Amino acid sequence: MKIIACKDYKEMSQTAAKEIIALVKKGTPFTLGLATGSTPEGVYRELVDDFNQGQTSYSHVTSVNLDEYVGLSKSDLNSYHYYMQAKLFQYIDLPSDQQLIPDGTAQDLEAECENYEQNILKSGGVDLQILGIGHNGHIGFNEPGTSFTSRTHVVELAEKTRKANARFFPSIDQVPTKAVTMGIATIMESKRILLLVSGKSKADTIARLLNGTVEESFPASILNLHADVTVIADEEALSTINENKMKKSYSIG
Ligand code: PGA
Repeated sequence: MKIIACKDYKEMSQTAAKEIIALVKKGTPFTLGLATGSTPEGVYRELVDDFNQGQTSYSHVTSVNLDEYVGLSKSDLNSYHYYMQAKLFQYIDLPSDQQLIPDGTAQDLEAECENYEQNILKSGGVDLQILGIGHNGHIGFNEPGTSFTSRTHVVELAEKTRKANARFFPSIDQVPTKAVTMGIATIMESKRILLLVSGKSKADTIARLLNGTVEESFPASILNLHADVTVIADEEALSTINENKMKKSYSIG
């Protein structure tokens, strides 16, 4: 796992955007895995700025989102369909029929999950997946205890996750209890992964990830077994690791 240490959120966002843009610019069909939440918002702003400067076209890109809440319509302000339109898609030239996001309102959610897997395969597989990480180590909406062999599936959201996401909703009661998410095995099939981590509140999470123990109780730990993961983290997110290192060198010294 490669780690890029950034000064702050802005630098983390710029660094990730630069990597994405360099790959998209190659112009060959490209499947870009996208994430939602607060962490990637800055990256999307950077991509939009770059697009507005006439730099990069997304006409050859297929985007594949990690997850969607069950029961929220595409126009619901809290759906990830809406998030992606609002933060990125409305500003760039990525064709709408190349924007893949699970449909959380599908009548048959099992069929939707199967269909989503097929669509990822048809796109040629994810070339670059952007990931955030939950405080409990979730990736996508794969909560602790999710099988590492899981594929796109319906999940029951952990209370911790519903609480963390309640900030976007009028009240916690309105946070959906279920979601459709790419599975851990699906995510691991991405050819390359950029994991973005920002802020003090994620410092212990990222320290746990980097200690290297791989266990289903901490879903992101599987990333230690992927051949091409880059963690792009800011100083605050790396603070526990840096403190531990300092303590260690002090005791050795
Ligand atoms: P956040 O969420 O970017 O809003 O912190 C990350 C996640 O839960 O995966």
